Amino acid sequence: MANVIIIGTQWGDEGKGKIVDLLTRYADYVVRFQGGNNAGHTLVVDGKKYIFHLIPSGILYDNKKCMIGNGVVIDPEILLGEMAELDATGLPVTPNRLTISENAHLIMPYHKLLDGASEQSKEDGAKIGTTGRGIGPCYGDKILRTGIKAGDILDEALFREKLRENVEEKNFLLTEKYQAAPIKFDDILREFLGYAEQLAPFIGNVSVELDEARKAGKHILFEGAQGTQLDIDHGTYPFVTSSNTIAGNACTGTGFGPAHIDAVIGILKAYTTRVGSGPFPSELFDETGDALQKKGGEFGATTGRKRRCGWLDTVVARDAVRLNGITGLAITKLDVLSNQGNLKIATSYEADGKRYHAMPGNIRTVERLTPCYEDIAGWQEDISRVRSIEELPVAARDYVKRVEDLTETPASVLSVGPARDETLLLRNPFE
Ligand code: GDP
Ligand code: IMO
Ligand code: MG
Repeated sequence: MANVIIIGTQWGDEGKGKIVDLLTRYADYVVRFQGGNNAGHTLVVDGKKYIFHLIPSGILYDNKKCMIGNGVVIDPEILLGEMAELDATGLPVTPNRLTISENAHLIMPYHKLLDGASEQSKEDGAKIGTTGRGIGPCYGDKILRTGIKAGDILDEALFREKLRENVEEKNFLLTEKYQAAPIKFDDILREFLGYAEQLAPFIGNVSVELDEARKAGKHILFEGAQGTQLDIDHGTYPFVTSSNTIAGNACTGTGFGPAHIDAVIGILKAYTTRVGSGPFPSELFDETGDALQKKGGEFGATTGRKRRCGWLDTVVARDAVRLNGITGLAITKLDVLSNQGNLKIATSYEADGKRYHAMPGNIRTVERLTPCYEDIAGWQEDISRVRSIEELPVAARDYVKRVEDLTETPASVLSVGPARDETLLLRNPFE
């Protein structure tokens, strides 16, 4: 039995979806624990590309159970849309394949409106560049104790009561603060009672189900969204998402005990990308940055925005190892570094005459950081057909070795292409 957490080590889009899909083969349960449909996880299976925003990336295996934990924020329209798409692909999502935690909070129409209005009202330099999916306002209500949970819509009286209070408060904000049109209680009530009917068979107690699975010796895979530097506590605040993205939240966000976790796999892209605004010390503004963006196909899987690109940053990677207790790395998109000339790895930062070996907490300092690089030889060969470490060019092997040394963490997986089989599984975390 093994229970494994997969998390992003950078600013998201490291290739978590691909690795989760790959490792689902060895798992019985795949569980999302935080974030919402701000995530975009891409899977390429049998030449077909799938992008999941809310449904766990294990859903393509028909004999595995997927779960959406209490730490996730759910937009029911998006969830039902993903279920309908899977249905059309011949992979219907039935209650024996998906459980949704009754305690997961719902993204309401007013959360999306407030996300947009709040971003719009900010000055250019202060905009977070959110995905506009209502994530921040929904988590905000959860923390303020005014949120609406998935289970609440099954109790019409309770739902009406909570919705009425929210509509009153949100209409004040929308009309008075943002000069926007108000929302209508009846419209939302009708819409959500419709969702309640469709979602009722899926809503349950994820914590209890996971505990039973664990006792029965099942393997559980926890699928993180976003990345460590987007963590609400440990990331480049305020340019972060509104949840804890780190491994500890796999337990809080599902109701699973920390002592039962066996391994944490950190997904590390072989270079760095960021989508949205906020500081990014190793960002490249030259032709190398453009080349990585083009070759890596670096466009947001959720918003379609161009991702900013830069060199691998091992300050970020070491922070991730510490914050998540990473036991093995999955280094992805190694193929993109082929034929990019000589490479650089950021190993520390400098600002105002001071050296930094971890990301500083002060955002103004973070904005002033200059990375200190070490040069490392590149390789020209296409490595997308390589399936064993011995077949890799020496320079690529040295690159991996250097990352392992700088992070003091072994590589468990190397990924050389988007497809399931374009992978070198060096150490299976489930074994
Ligand atoms: P996630 O949010 O962490 O799941 O990552 P995304 O799906 O947003 O972005 C990763 C992108 O890289 C997707 O388009 C994947 O299909 C692709 N990808 C994943 N691993 C590899 C790899 O090793 N090589 C290449 N070339 N593409 C990859
Ligand atoms: P996956 O799971 C990359 C970024 C947004 C923005 C900030 C806050 O695919 O790796 P939010 O809508 O969450 O309030 O936006 O976080 N962001 C992501 N960036 N990958 C993601 O998810 C992201 N989810 C949110 O671009 O900068
Ligand atoms: Mg993504």
